[in-house]
Amino acid sequence: MIRAVFLSHTAAPSGAELATLRLLTALRDSDAVAASMLLTAPGPLLDLMRARRIPVTLCDTDFDSRSLTIAGSGAGRLITGAVELVRLGARLGGAVRADGADVLVAQSTKALLMGAVAARRAGVPLVWQVHDRVSAEYFGRPLAVVLRVLGWAAVRGVVANSRATLRTLHTRGRFSVVAYPGVEDTAAAGRVPQRDPGAVRIAMVGRLTRWKGQDVLLRALTLMRHRPSAVHLVGGTFFDEQDYRAELERTAAELGLTVDFAGHVDDPALYYAQADIAVHCSVLPEPFGQVVVEAMRAGCAVVAADAGGPAEIVRPEVDGLLTPPGDPVALAAALDRLVADPALRTRLGAAARDRAADFGIAATARAVTGLLEQVVGRQAVPAR
Ligand code: GLC
Repeated sequence: MIRAVFLSHTAAPSGAELATLRLLTALRDSDAVAASMLLTAPGPLLDLMRARRIPVTLCDTDFDSRSLTIAGSGAGRLITGAVELVRLGARLGGAVRADGADVLVAQSTKALLMGAVAARRAGVPLVWQVHDRVSAEYFGRPLAVVLRVLGWAAVRGVVANSRATLRTLHTRGRFSVVAYPGVEDTAAAGRVPQRDPGAVRIAMVGRLTRWKGQDVLLRALTLMRHRPSAVHLVGGTFFDEQDYRAELERTAAELGLTVDFAGHVDDPALYYAQADIAVHCSVLPEPFGQVVVEAMRAGCAVVAADAGGPAEIVRPEVDGLLTPPGDPVALAAALDRLVADPALRTRLGAAARDRAADFGIAATARAVTGLLEQVVGRQAVPAR
């Protein structure tokens, strides 16, 4: 049995953390990996983990992880933030050793920095489970370069959430695997048949943050020949993103659009079940895009941005449509086509359900287990 401690700097219920929650749930009954969670901030994830009987430890600190933010923060702030993270890492090392861990798995870039120190202190190998594409467009060039080098130097293994994410990393001489963040095998909410063109409902699920491109959808809506009868933007603002939400609300009002800002919801299943069409339109390549798989699983007709993870998930014209990222004209055209054609929506939605079955959480757990076994140099444990 491999004892693995998963480390995260945030307990916000955003995509990467929810992926970790599902993975640790799937590993809970595993004979090969005993997984526990180490968090350095309080938040909803803590209770979500406890409710699922996942061993979780909070190593609370007054460190504000936002002092080390992506592109835009000054170099001075960045360095102070990094020093703080390293200090925290030393403390975490004690917790990891006390746990008798065989391996530490960092769940974010900040966790990678802390984890590099913690793993060294505890004398265990470090694995980096990467949820972000480590690119200049996302992190800014200097930080992307540093993360790539550090991520290579400090780790023995890498788990990437897509091939697109893996391609942004240095992995020479390291174990690596793509483990798509799978969905859980719960009963999907029943859905109504695809509506007539005059009554179509659109949902877009995802954190409200600029690179997720909610504004692209708003602009596309103004270009459509037939506006949908309802548009739901489902998603919260967790990391200083309130300004973007305010901007979206202003834009919607200025453009005369009626848009429902649903905020964060723990389980968006009902929104998917009610939506004829689900939109994903991140302007940067999406690392994976769990919302795309969730929408497909719910049988929505999906339009997603043609880059990163969604381009590995959606097979265009078969189980969804892809449009170039950041292109409201192309998005409007795709939406118009779908709105006008309920038969097309029905066909894509049905194929999408089948496709989503390729992205189950059990497969994720198997891929991660295999990588951890390689990293700690053990063979698979025979079933008891
Ligand atoms: C991050 C990525 C998202 C991915 C998730 C799970 O939130 O932005 O694309 O689906 O992590 O790996």
